[in-house]
Amino acid sequence: MSEPRIIVALDFDHAKTALDFCKKLSPQLCRLKIGKELFTAAGPAIIEKLTHQGFDIFLDLKFHDIPTTVAKACKAACELGVWMINVHASGGRKMLMAAREAVPQNSTRLIAVTVLTSLNEHDLHEIGFSNSPQELVLKLAHLTQDCGLNGVVCSAQETTALRKELGRNFCLVTPGIRLIDNIKTDDQERVTTPHQAIANGSDYLVIGRPITQSPDPYQTLLDIQRSITS
Ligand code: C5P
Repeated sequence: MSEPRIIVALDFDHAKTALDFCKKLSPQLCRLKIGKELFTAAGPAIIEKLTHQGFDIFLDLKFHDIPTTVAKACKAACELGVWMINVHASGGRKMLMAAREAVPQNSTRLIAVTVLTSLNEHDLHEIGFSNSPQELVLKLAHLTQDCGLNGVVCSAQETTALRKELGRNFCLVTPGIRLIDNIKTDDQERVTTPHQAIANGSDYLVIGRPITQSPDPYQTLLDIQRSITS
């Protein structure tokens, strides 16, 4: 089987709930994303347990601080043996370069968040950015690539443009995925189906609630896997 392109977002507030849920999944079919909520509640121990079970972990802590602090945080995250980590591209060139230097090439993948999908044009203007969200995403993605990072987190609706501008080898990770028969969007503004996201050029799909709230998570995972390989 080819490498898993589905990353299940473990948005749980307790280690036991997350571990029980992961018994319904398979490392052959998916990777796992641990974010601020679960990591704050459960700490590095949950990474160790899930890695031991064969899962690759994307540690989604979105570091954003002065260069030295971010570099040290990235180094500590790599030492947990995770598959991928991330920082905010808006931390700027010096911060991105410091993060790159702290993470050995060909070890943990290092990607950057461009513009949070919760921000619209008005929000950006209010905090002093004059670009549209799309312009800013492109600008920050170019900066991220220029600093030698492996890729960015972006909306699947932006992947076609980013893929064209940034080339085949730049990793595009896309949340905001909804299944065709499950059009509930929750708090996601711009959603895309798994098949469309892959067709647009996404490398990895971050999927939370469509899997975590499914009555049969394993079957949902299988269905999504089939839809992206068809
Ligand atoms: O599929 P669902 O909407 O439940 O996925 C939510 C997950 O996607 C959360 O873990 C959130 O952190 C992540 N995410 C996002 N938008 C971004 C980056 C990450 O929704 N721009």
